[in-house]
Amino acid sequence: CAGATGFTTGKITSQHGLMYSKLVERHGEDRARAYAGAQQSALEQIVEIVAEQQIDCDLRRADAYVYTEDPKRVAEISREYKATRALGLPSQLVEGDIGLPWTVACAVRFADQALFHPRRYCLGLAAAIERSGGTIFEQTRALDVEDGNREKNGANVVVTTAGGVVRADAVVLATQTPILDRGAFFARTQPHRSYVIAARCDDPPDDMYISAEQPIRSVRPHTDADGSVLMVGGGGHRTGKDDHTEQQYGDLRRFAAERFDVSANWQWSAQDFAPADGLPYIGPITGGHPHTFVATGYAKWGMTNGTVAAMIIADSILGRESEWREAFDSTRIDLHRSVGVVGSQGLSTVKSVIGDRIASLAASGVDSLAPGTGAVVRAGGHPVAAFRHEDGTIDAVSPRCTHLSCIVHFNEAERTWDCPCHGSRFDLKGHVIDGPATHDLETVHLVADDPAAN
Ligand code: FES
Repeated sequence: CAGATGFTTGKITSQHGLMYSKLVERHGEDRARAYAGAQQSALEQIVEIVAEQQIDCDLRRADAYVYTEDPKRVAEISREYKATRALGLPSQLVEGDIGLPWTVACAVRFADQALFHPRRYCLGLAAAIERSGGTIFEQTRALDVEDGNREKNGANVVVTTAGGVVRADAVVLATQTPILDRGAFFARTQPHRSYVIAARCDDPPDDMYISAEQPIRSVRPHTDADGSVLMVGGGGHRTGKDDHTEQQYGDLRRFAAERFDVSANWQWSAQDFAPADGLPYIGPITGGHPHTFVATGYAKWGMTNGTVAAMIIADSILGRESEWREAFDSTRIDLHRSVGVVGSQGLSTVKSVIGDRIASLAASGVDSLAPGTGAVVRAGGHPVAAFRHEDGTIDAVSPRCTHLSCIVHFNEAERTWDCPCHGSRFDLKGHVIDGPATHDLETVHLVADDPAAN
């Protein structure tokens, strides 16, 4: 509840920007209908769980709008509206005043969607699991999973953790991107970071909104014990590929000030993985590992897609049919529809491996680091990922990502080391924050006052 889920905007909706006309074009009407139906069912499933388990998470119904301010995009919005109607989604075409402090050229409205506090919902789910006799182990990092040697292991699956092994009938790798390289999901998804600011606001709009145009601006209201809050999200980019992440917050703060006349009180960012062909991967990690399940590639719409994954995987484990299994099939290899992303992912990895290594050879010495900055620099003749704190002390770690050895980049806004290849992230001490890496970056001990240190 403290990773991507805790940092999402908490929109529960089947409206995922302008996606359905593209989905029909790419995958055909049947798969697009399965995706749409699964999202609507997930929305209702969450509402039901909240009521049944009496989870106090500020859940309330709200409409979701995708809008354009550009009259030239009206035809595109109308196309999206027609696609959503044909797929049975609760959409309407609207224009002008949609509850924002500005008028829009056109919008698609999805009725009766929902908003909630995602972390409080997840904590409620955790309590429900424990009430039902389940046990939750925190601070227990899984390092490996072996599936398929039942005779030797005495179980379908064995999970190796830092503190011992766990034997199970089935395992779900709900780790955003799988921590195992089997299935090559790291090559079939792209890691993205996005940003949110929140501000005290006397009169935020009632519903939730997302712009059709770039840069994406996603808006929703929230209420806490002290009053109303406005949340504005956007500014997405590939992990490790933006050297000025602080600017992303600045752009959101400016948007909130100009459009709503508010100043940001809070800011945070989150990570998500986009699938190569536009549909998440949900199911067994490979055809040969039937007891190890994955769910990834939610493309920032994890509230409903995560719930869809739970429903499909639960059905699989219990041997039940699922009408959505085929549309989300995790083992599909669809080169035709995935070629753009898989190609650019591969190219970006190659560029990072070669380009960043060359850059690290020419990097300046540790002395070049100003307080409050981090970079890959040279020390003792080797590249190191170093951060100089405001008091002058330095944290230095190996710049080689422990997943597949790409060179990490410094993320100035979050003060983390982010891998541009497949999205692993590490804190200043090298501890893993996000996978697929499961091992920390090695600590480098710099020798004080050693001229060779530079
Ligand atoms: Fe794969 Fe870093 S995440 S090399």
